[in-house]
Parts: sequence; C-alpha cells; structure tokens
Amino acid sequence: VRMILIGPPGAGKGTQAPKIKEKFSCCHLATGDMLRSQVAKKTPLGREAKKIMDAGGLVSDDIMIGMIKEELDTNRECKGGFILDGFPRTVAQAGALDKMLAEKDQKLQHAVELEIDDALLVARITGRLVHPASGRSYHQIFNPPKKPMTDDLTGEPLIQRSDDNADALKKRLATYHAQTVPVVGYYKKTGIWKSIDASQEPGQVWNSLLKIFGENN
Ligand code: AP5
Ligand code: ZN
Repeated sequence: VRMILIGPPGAGKGTQAPKIKEKFSCCHLATGDMLRSQVAKKTPLGREAKKIMDAGGLVSDDIMIGMIKEELDTNRECKGGFILDGFPRTVAQAGALDKMLAEKDQKLQHAVELEIDDALLVARITGRLVHPASGRSYHQIFNPPKKPMTDDLTGEPLIQRSDDNADALKKRLATYHAQTVPVVGYYKKTGIWKSIDASQEPGQVWNSLLKIFGENN
C-alpha cells in the first residue's frame, strides 16, 4: 500500500500505523520518531530539532523532505509500499511527495485523515508512554503496559516524550491548525482523501481503516 495518515497530536497515527505495516508488509515512516532518534544520538540535527519540537514548531521542509526521500529510496521495507506518519505536514511537503513519487511512476493510494476534537487530545497526550527504540506507544489509562513503565515486547523502560505536556501540546495544536489543516485541503481535492472518526476506541478506528482498504485495494 502507499498511504499517508494525517491527524493532530494524539489522534492515533502511531497507534494505527504499525498495524497497517503488519497487514501490508510495508515500511512505517514516522518523521517524529526519526527526529527523536537524532535527538537521542545528539547529532547536530538532533540538537536543533529538539528545541523546535519542544516548542511545538516544525523542522524545515528541506530537511524533512530529504529525510523521507532517503528512506523511500533506500529502506528495503519500503519495497512493499509505505505508510507515512507525520509527513507531509505542510503543503510544500505534500507537493514534494507527489513529485518524488512521480519520479518513481508511483502515486499515493490513500490519504487518511484521523479526525478528532482538540479537547480530547490533552488526556491522550499527557498519559502517553513510549518505548523510545521502537516508537511503540502506550497510555497510562487507555492502553496500559502489562508491567508499569515497561515495554511489553522488550521489557525495556517506557518514557514520557519531552513535548507531551499541556503547554507544548497547545503550541503543537496551533501549528497543526495553521500548517497541516491546509494539507488536508490539498488531499480533499484529489480522489484519495478519506476521513475517519479518531475519537472511537482503537479497535473501531482500525475497523474504519480496514473499510477504506476494502474499498480501494
Ligand atoms: P510527531 O511525533 O509526528 O508528533 P505528533 O504529530 O504531535 O503526533 P503524536 O505522535 O503526538 O500523535 P499520534 O497521532 O502518533 O498519537 P498516538 O498514536 O501515539 O512529531 C513530533 C514533532 O516532530 C513535531 O511537533 C515537529 O516538531 C517534528 N516533526 C515531525 N514530523 C515533521 C514534519 N514532517 N515536518 C516538520 N516537523 C516535523 O496516540 C497518543 C496517545 O493516545 C497514546 O498514549 C495512545 O496509546 C493513545 N491512543 C491512541 N489512539 C487512541 C484511541 N483511539 N483511544 C484512546 N487512546 C488512544
Ligand atoms: Zn506519533
């Protein structure tokens, strides 16, 4: 499959994407996870990105477009297709993606919007726990790990993201409305846009995704 998931912070992109990856044996490219891995390695990009991420802003289009292009060109898992999580986030990124794919004679099949009211996101974001190495996420209440603060699969510790607080979330939401909602408009003009009610429980959201695949695959 070749698809993107668009939605605000906490909509469930990182929760649903691994299931799509498993279903289609494609790659899951999460630009936020890629940036966090640079932060963890303390690379120059990581140091720069951390400031921007903690302030709820966006890393430059050129850097993000380059990162996705590199993965699509070299990541073997992407031979089976891809699911993009967190990209494109600006209209410029969306245009660059179309161009990248056209050069490979490929087209996006689905642009799926995870639609949810901002008010529901605070609880999701402030209760999230993540396994840094894999990007797997849990929730203290909605999806608790089997052992407190411990990843189910590796037994390694879970952490809270440094941008997962009410203050940074406000800024991330403002950025989403200003820069990423126009991306939704961009895809609405194509035939591939679909919207899902992301306030449903995770299993219901997954069922909604399966319906979309059933219709178009
Ligand atoms: P990124 O990592 O992409 O963060 P985000 O967009 O803010 O999205 P989140 O990861 O917070 O939400 P999610 O939708 O994945 O939610 P999840 O499934 O984990 O980006 C971080 C930063 O990097 C950006 O702010 C920016 O600075 C930078 N960046 C990244 N990409 C960029 C780009 N392309 N260009 C420029 N800058 C870029 O779920 C959240 C919680 O809710 C979890 O605890 C989960 O268990 C729970 N949950 C999930 N689904 C449900 C449900 N249905 N019901 C109840 N709980 C649920
Ligand atoms: Zn995520």
